[in-house]
Amino acid sequence: MQSSYTFWILNFLMLCLVVRSQLSEDFYSKSCPKLMSIVRKEVKNAIMNEMRMAASLLRLHFHDCFVNGCDASLLLDGSDGEKFAGPNINSARGFEVIDAIKNAVESACSDVVSCADILAIAARDSVLLSGGPSWKVLVGRRDGVMANQTGANLSLPSPFESLDIIIAKFAAVGLNITHVVALSGAHTIGLSRCALFSNRLSNFSGTGAPDSTLDTGLISQLQNACPANGDGNNTVPLDIRSRDLFDNHYFTNLVNGRGILQSDQSLFSSDVAISTTKSIAQLYSNNSAVFFDDFASSMIKMGNISPLTGSNGQIRKNCRIVNSS
Ligand code: HEM
Ligand SMILES: *[C@@H]1O[C@H](CO)[C@@H](O)[C@H](O)[C@H]1NC(C)=O
Ligand SMILES: *[C@@H]1O[C@H](CO)[C@@H](O)[C@H](O)[C@H]1NC(C)=O
Ligand SMILES: *[C@@H]1O[C@H](CO)[C@@H](O)[C@H](O)[C@H]1NC(C)=O
Ligand SMILES: *[C@@H]1O[C@H](CO)[C@@H](O)[C@H](O)[C@H]1NC(C)=O
Ligand SMILES: *[C@@H]1O[C@H](CO)[C@@H](O)[C@H](O)[C@H]1NC(C)=O
Ligand SMILES: *[C@@H]1O[C@H](CO)[C@@H](O)[C@H](O)[C@H]1NC(C)=O
Repeated sequence: MQSSYTFWILNFLMLCLVVRSQLSEDFYSKSCPKLMSIVRKEVKNAIMNEMRMAASLLRLHFHDCFVNGCDASLLLDGSDGEKFAGPNINSARGFEVIDAIKNAVESACSDVVSCADILAIAARDSVLLSGGPSWKVLVGRRDGVMANQTGANLSLPSPFESLDIIIAKFAAVGLNITHVVALSGAHTIGLSRCALFSNRLSNFSGTGAPDSTLDTGLISQLQNACPANGDGNNTVPLDIRSRDLFDNHYFTNLVNGRGILQSDQSLFSSDVAISTTKSIAQLYSNNSAVFFDDFASSMIKMGNISPLTGSNGQIRKNCRIVNSS
């Protein structure tokens, strides 16, 4: 008797833990009812000021979630922080916009909304305001209390890595091959520096010739944009057909050998791709509605990577620093 009573109590407690560790749509509906409209307005302002900011904000959420989960660890300042990790240094941007959103949110409801949730909402709004799909963003994350620079160096995918490695890095955070392809479609907006693909433009991997998977017309276009004696800091659109519009052109580009990064094109052209990612990329290139649906559900899935909930972590007052007390 006693033990079955204990059993049910334990079960009940476990259920509470499960419930508490889940994100929800309405987490702030009482504590910060204007949250969604405040973030939307701030993102709109930022994008009106610079269209590229939509891409930059979307990428921040990705780079946050892949390192110790979606806990805003990316936003912490300091030379040992994630901002100085290889994939982020001179690359991740939009931190001032996150500060502005956080300030606006704090004015309306202070000490309630996490920086991690602001990243998730801003990413959703950036996609929507760029012409892409929308989704019901789940919230209730709390902020981490430390950065993980080693984690950022090791866990974020590099454009020079093989498709197998990239798939493995997504799998390490619970994302499958459909998520890899759909989320790569984020490269339908934003820019890349020449340094991240110029190795493809001549003597690729010591072959004496450019990357054979790269469209020849695009090669000369990219060579012009990226002078061989340049510093690699020039930028080109990741989707050269429609740089600021969130559409499925990223995938039609891949079908036409016009993916900018080696890792982009590998989704369609590598040996691994033939058996796995190629057909998904082809499907998205033919059907933007399926891409939009899969992108939305993949973003929700990515936003669910190891969130801090309940009494774990904290609600940072300033997204750049851990609360002092
Ligand atoms: C699949 C593996 C991925 C690799 C190897 C990769 C790599 C890159 C690289 C090298 C850049 C250019 C950075 C620079 O110029 O400094 C970039 C930009 C970008 N990435 Fe990815 N990425 C990947 C997946 C993703 C995912 C999953 C998302 C979001 C869901 C994303 C969103 C973006 C956006 C929006 C930009 C443009 C940012 C801007 O213009 O500020 N990427 N990515
Ligand atoms: C991460 O990579 C950057 C750039 O490659 C390097 O400067 C830094 O020391 C690395 N950090 C750690 C903790 O390994
Ligand atoms: C940092 O990230 C690495 C790789 O993702 C992980 O193995 C490690 O446990 C993390 N460190 C901390 C202190 O969270
Ligand atoms: C990936 O997971 C999603 C559910 O999150 C599922 O719908 C999809 O079919 C899976 N893709 C693969 C290739 O297993
Ligand atoms: C290409 O690079 C390889 C080694 O990386 C070198 O041996 C070869 O001479 C180069 N070829 C050309 C045409 O520059
Ligand atoms: C690109 O610009 C950054 C500063 O924004 C600089 O530190 C870096 O050295 C430049 N890259 C190259 C390859 O010169
Ligand atoms: C998509 O269209 C291409 C032609 O552009 C065709 O070869 C391919 O079979 C189609 N794929 C799917 C999955 O519909």
